[in-house]
Amino acid sequence: MDEPTDPRDELRELVSKLRAELARRARAGAFAAPAGPTPRPVDAGGSGRDERPHQDRQAPPDHKGGAGDSLARDAGPGHASLGDEPEMGATPGRPLAEVRRELGDCTRCKLAPSRQNIVFGVGDERAPLMFIGEAPGRDEDRLGEPFVGKAGALLDRMIAAMGWSRDRVYIANVLKCRPPQNRDPAPDEIEACKPFLAAQIDAVAPRVIVTLGKPAAHLILDTSAPISALRGRFHQMRGVPVMPTFHPAFLLRSPDKKREAWSDLKQVIERLAQIGIDPPHRPKTSST
Ligand code: URA
Repeated sequence: MDEPTDPRDELRELVSKLRAELARRARAGAFAAPAGPTPRPVDAGGSGRDERPHQDRQAPPDHKGGAGDSLARDAGPGHASLGDEPEMGATPGRPLAEVRRELGDCTRCKLAPSRQNIVFGVGDERAPLMFIGEAPGRDEDRLGEPFVGKAGALLDRMIAAMGWSRDRVYIANVLKCRPPQNRDPAPDEIEACKPFLAAQIDAVAPRVIVTLGKPAAHLILDTSAPISALRGRFHQMRGVPVMPTFHPAFLLRSPDKKREAWSDLKQVIERLAQIGIDPPHRPKTSST
């Protein structure tokens, strides 16, 4: 008989089958279906850090879970294209290091040959607050870290105004590689990178997500509505509140829009406070 008789062999075989299935799902570009509703204890201490054990940080209390659960759920009108997409993503809640390992020296899309560095993400793996931008620019490509150029300096100020800091939140992009001449991400590039952003979201399990600019909002909320129609109110992505706001690069070009962006970020501070998460530092009270 070919069947393994040693229980350790059986376990190894099971793990390997599971790994293969998870890799298949990641390649299919499906966000992970969280295991089910998991109670999320309130961080009453307001430490600004999510102290839940990693395995307890998969789903927020209002998460519906289950097959057919839409990727994005809108909180109100003005939100287009909310199909019951298949769940997206890689393995639920794998640690970031594992996700980074799976990404490897990625050649899944046409951006690979021209990039200097893969820009994976930066910050606290247990951050309750996650920012998602568009794609690395020249500085990020050179240094391998998101938002380190001029737009990054503004993002740092926005985060600081909220009472947070770069090392206490988590920052990632829709694309991990720089599009040549900073052109917009192409649909096939977004598609190739999507499972990894999904896996980062699963790993960090943020309590609130802030999307910066159009590509992030459109991907996370499964819509093509303009940012001006989306920003200013919370949406949902698989139970996680999502606040779309302007991209810092846009704010550098249109400083008159900073007031609106700040009003979005203040709502985020309030939302976190409602669930018992205070920023590590005192937030500013007026526009930056
Ligand atoms: N713009 C982005 O969207 N992401 C970066 O990392 C840098 C600039």
